[in-house]
Amino acid sequence: MCGIVGYIGPKQAHPILLDGLKRLEYRGYDSAGLCVAGENGKLSILRAAGKIRVLEELLKKDPPKGIRGIGHSRWASHGKPSEENAHPHTDCKKEIVIVHNGIIENYFSLREELGTKGHRFSSETDTEVITHLLEENLQRLKSRATPHPPHLAHPLLFLAVQETVKELKGSFAMTLLWKQAPDTLIAVRNDCPLAIGLGDREFFVASDVPAFLPYTRNVLFLEDREIAVLSSQQCLLFNFEGKKVSREPLSIKWNLSQAEKGGYKHFMLKEIFEQPRAVEDTLRGRIGPNSTPGFLQELNLDAEILKRVRRVHLVGCGTAYHAGLVGKYLLEHLAGIPCEAEIASEFRYRRPTLDPETLLIAISQSGETADTLSAVREAKKRTSHLLAICNCVGSTLTREVPSTLTTHCGPEIGVASTKAFLGQLTALTLVALHAGFLRGQLSAEELRSFSEELLKIPGGIRQVLKEEPAVLKISKEMYKKEHLLYLGRHIQYPICLEGALKLKELSYIHAEGYAAGEMKHGPIALIDESMPVVALATRSRLYDKLCGNLQEAVARGAVLISVVNPGDRAVTAQSAWTLEVPEVPELLSPLVNIVPLQLFAYHMARQRGCDVDQPRNLAKSVTVE
Ligand code: G6P
Repeated sequence: MCGIVGYIGPKQAHPILLDGLKRLEYRGYDSAGLCVAGENGKLSILRAAGKIRVLEELLKKDPPKGIRGIGHSRWASHGKPSEENAHPHTDCKKEIVIVHNGIIENYFSLREELGTKGHRFSSETDTEVITHLLEENLQRLKSRATPHPPHLAHPLLFLAVQETVKELKGSFAMTLLWKQAPDTLIAVRNDCPLAIGLGDREFFVASDVPAFLPYTRNVLFLEDREIAVLSSQQCLLFNFEGKKVSREPLSIKWNLSQAEKGGYKHFMLKEIFEQPRAVEDTLRGRIGPNSTPGFLQELNLDAEILKRVRRVHLVGCGTAYHAGLVGKYLLEHLAGIPCEAEIASEFRYRRPTLDPETLLIAISQSGETADTLSAVREAKKRTSHLLAICNCVGSTLTREVPSTLTTHCGPEIGVASTKAFLGQLTALTLVALHAGFLRGQLSAEELRSFSEELLKIPGGIRQVLKEEPAVLKISKEMYKKEHLLYLGRHIQYPICLEGALKLKELSYIHAEGYAAGEMKHGPIALIDESMPVVALATRSRLYDKLCGNLQEAVARGAVLISVVNPGDRAVTAQSAWTLEVPEVPELLSPLVNIVPLQLFAYHMARQRGCDVDQPRNLAKSVTVE
């Protein structure tokens, strides 16, 4: 996700801002920029696509003077990575400067509305609507006699910010300056992290503590719906209703490397715990209690295509391929479309039956995987209906296909994919639901009820994450095993494959995922006391059949570790260990059932002393064939 920095105090701002941005580099970004307000009110804005060193070069050539400023490293969500889309953004008069992290859900309608009022936009971002909306509100409030909030040098700015945030839907953390309000910096948080570093008559703002750790360890974490008004003398906190808030600062004990990981031991664990958020952000603005296929507009995918296509091919590599396999079940069940899911490296060398009535969905976290790109290029020769499900806006994949559904997971740093997988499953569910609705396979009522269930999934994942101590306990017993078999049926089968892949890549233990019904055709020969079985045994239409399959494994000595729903009896009775996950509709269960398997792979690897974030021989993005 984007990184925000801000400074107000006695020192020159730009070296502190640049230093802060460098310390946030680990979060991933595609462009960067900053703004420094000079004594005469002059606002110097510098922005650059690419690495922070490009911005650094610009600063060397023309160092901006000023003791107040804001900076940003951007991870594109709306609009490609480019200088125009890099933050900070400004209003029409170039007096308001804003950096933002998050997603403004209603940016499209706001942009249209502001456009009719004469505002001119110079970027494709959702952020820019905030600058123009604030400009509009400042203008409106100026002409009215307004009450002055206490202790504020620039009450008008505060009131305009308050009005503005009320009109925004979505998640946002932002920091802003106004030319006409000297010695003021405003920071706002709603649903995205933002911290204020308290120095000696100087204040720092950042999305993440490492940005200002060398300067201060006293931190105020903003809560949701809070506005901080900073001057070189004080930091005042208010809620969105304008009520003053007071809170004691915390003293941070973490070192830099711990701080980068938000206090987690590894990026992978942090990313596993970020999954509820990844799902929420991928759903944000795309589904609601009154579900309509509104997101298709954003997708740039003609609803007619989803109505008309007669076949879907899903391609990807590794974890993304497993997401494709889940997608096949979803699209077939919810939309009644014949589907094939295939490994991209195989697809590209087959002669798959693609015609103009085929939709190809390419799934990739990075959008740079060579095999996936080649599969897309191959498919392009025979169909023009291509959709990418991708986490990196502006990546090669998103540039090569006409439509992209972005998974808003934020940068994934751990080599083994976790939160990106959940983002992919979420995006595929959205496509399947809307295709089902458009094709008359789902009624409006069914779409609404599925959407409600989908919106509950992040809460379900949060519940599963509480099972971590139980997972750790099991891993302490199991980590010396050399082989494990993962069994499940139907839509759990791809989750078995993914669970086994996680274990292989992280702990170097041989693991295989199998459709439980297929066990009797081979793998049963392997089963004895030395081969534990991990079963995905949540309630489903095939639960009783799975029970039978598991009994066969237990009868041959297998130690059973089962993922079950609360109140389960039949599978629990046969299991040595159980891990509980909340019961959700069967087609949505992959979104929660994979989580204990990720935690299991993580802890098994830790017990074995493996490098969790960078497993041997693996690369995050495989850009060669
Ligand atoms: C590599 C990574 C995997 C990832 C796969 C596909 O093998 O180690 O975690 O699933 O590439 O990457 P993509 O970026 O296309 O999703």
